[in-house]
Amino acid sequence: MSASSQNYHQTYQSWQEDPLAFWAHAAQGVDWMSPFERVFDPSAGVYGRWFPGGVCNTAYNCLDRHVERGRKGQAALIYDSPITGSKKVYSFEDLRDEVSAFGAVLKNLGVGKGDRVVVYMPMIPEAAIAMLACARIGAIHSVVFGGFAASELATRIDDARPKAIISASCGIEPNRVIAYKPLLDEAIDLSTHKPELTVIKQREQKPCDLIDGRDHDYDALLADANARGIDSDPEPMDATDPLYILYTSGTTGIPKGVVRDHGGHMVALNWTMSAIYDMQPGDVFWAASDVGWVVGHSYIVYAPLLAGCTTILYEGKPVGTPDPGAFWRVIEEHKVSSLFTAPTAFRAIKKEDPDGAFIEKYDLHTLKTLFLAGERADPDTIEWAQEKLRVPVIDHWWQTETGWAIAGNPVGLGKLPVRLGSPTVAMPGYDVQVIDDAGHPVPADTLGNIVVKLPLPPGCLPTLWNNDERFKASYLEEFPGYYKTADAGMIDGDGYLFIMARTDDIINVAGHRLSTGGMEEVLSGHPAVAEAAVIGVSDALKGQLPAGFVVTKDGVDLPMEQLEKEMVALVREKIGPVAAFKTVMVVDRLPKTRSGKILRGTMRQIADGEPYKMPATIDDPAILDEISGALKTKGYAA
Ligand code: COA
Ligand code: AMP
Repeated sequence: MSASSQNYHQTYQSWQEDPLAFWAHAAQGVDWMSPFERVFDPSAGVYGRWFPGGVCNTAYNCLDRHVERGRKGQAALIYDSPITGSKKVYSFEDLRDEVSAFGAVLKNLGVGKGDRVVVYMPMIPEAAIAMLACARIGAIHSVVFGGFAASELATRIDDARPKAIISASCGIEPNRVIAYKPLLDEAIDLSTHKPELTVIKQREQKPCDLIDGRDHDYDALLADANARGIDSDPEPMDATDPLYILYTSGTTGIPKGVVRDHGGHMVALNWTMSAIYDMQPGDVFWAASDVGWVVGHSYIVYAPLLAGCTTILYEGKPVGTPDPGAFWRVIEEHKVSSLFTAPTAFRAIKKEDPDGAFIEKYDLHTLKTLFLAGERADPDTIEWAQEKLRVPVIDHWWQTETGWAIAGNPVGLGKLPVRLGSPTVAMPGYDVQVIDDAGHPVPADTLGNIVVKLPLPPGCLPTLWNNDERFKASYLEEFPGYYKTADAGMIDGDGYLFIMARTDDIINVAGHRLSTGGMEEVLSGHPAVAEAAVIGVSDALKGQLPAGFVVTKDGVDLPMEQLEKEMVALVREKIGPVAAFKTVMVVDRLPKTRSGKILRGTMRQIADGEPYKMPATIDDPAILDEISGALKTKGYAA
């Protein structure tokens, strides 16, 4: 065993032997206003709660304590926006001051502890400031990704019931400026719950009108707060109080409100920065994601700041802003130590710059490691990145629900040998097992359901927002005593994990998690549609892309192209451009089992050109040929 693998094994073993001592020790990495009474209370909450009795504040730990301890002049957040040609550096002191002032603004508007605040923002510093200001005053933020449509935003408004919404006048994509305000207004029209107020950051690319009495101007409020010298103190929060709600796709169209608490979240994220990512205070960490996703919450905003690192908030793409050298410029310019992104970003770069010519133009000597997550990292992409960047490329596996890596290669403890196709080993805190459908453990190298023995470690969701029952039903009931990840895969003889597929209807499009069930609901809502099925088809760039099949109602007599266009537009309107829903086929029938279950798995195998077994229970095998024919018309190998 090498020294580094010994380190990992010793650490994992020390957690297994005494998990409470392990997390109590990790908890020393953050500041507490009052110490916790217990490390873990198994009788509280659905499966137990971490650090009950502890009082703390996440924003204080991200900002004030670093200001107080000699880091006030260090860059805390660097905003780099090739899409608008702007950059701005916030020191820890600058960021603390703006967060504190904006916290005071929110309080003056009547937002207080426990109130929900929806944040619907593009990748601008004010998004992170809004999140941290909520954390400071004890309000619970719920960030909604900008690529979601108004009705998705409305669903989240109705579930979170926010007092306020913080948004911006527009977001900017390479091919267009997206007016956010009409989307926001439409969402508020659609929702049953009406927020009392909004705060809007006006952007010069497309300012918007504000509604008197409801909408407030971010800059005006902040200027007023600064002129009056008002600020906010970090609110004492129970460790178990919610810090945020982040909605993620569930098995129906209604998203799940993943809850994160203050105490456990801080302890876990702070621990990961050194142990998993090998980052020291003062290092520059860059998660090229979006604050609307969990990666953005954990590794653009909270973890780097908790650890006293500089974080980069990048408003741009891996390619086209302006070229496939965009990432390398940022790394050189801001002296990035670790880059964290989704494999799809690298596939996009590799497609445009297969020889890595742009990489050679930049000095990347500060870059120590590339971390990938969000979807399966295909071996080709890993090998290309390793060869071109000449740094370790680390795949790690996690979910919105966990907030940090379930499995990874803990570079800070000592890098383990990389096995292509595997996100390496379980992290301390997670007892990962593979079991069959009856709940029995399967031998090594055998495909099964990946589960985590309860309790989940600090930082993972304690429940779903206002919905313990759905939390239990979705994650805990099928395999009692375990958290169901809904990923299938295997563990080899050395403990390396292999994540193969989801066991539910979730697909992963460009690292974005989407529910095919949600898309089917939208298609079924079209007046001409009798029945719909959506599958995720392999895509060389985005990993997967959705493809829809619809059967029309009897008597519908519309040209097929028109129907297809209408359905593509409907999914874009109801779910948003992020669904990347561009392919739909009108078919006469869907393949089903004799009991009426649509054979989506077989349809996906056909679309991917994989060999498949004729399902024994199929109602009419001829339908599979019809599906294959429809796919061929759309250019699939089928
Ligand atoms: N607001 C509004 N629209 C958005 C948006 C946002 N914040 N983000 C994306 N969109 C739109 C895009 O403009 C695109 O619209 P289009 O259909 O009109 O072209 C659509 O949503 C799909 O976006 P995306 O899947 O991102 O595809 P893309 O072709 O624009 O870019 C990549 C492809 C690979 C460059 C891009 O997906 C990427 O950078 N991925 C990085 C991975 C990542 O951030 N993962 C998050 C988890 S780690
Ligand atoms: P999200 O909640 O958006 O982070 O998506 C979580 C899902 O993405 C997981 O359940 C997996 O299906 C998939 N995923 C995330 N990271 C990886 C990875 N490193 N390898 C394989 N699949 C991954």
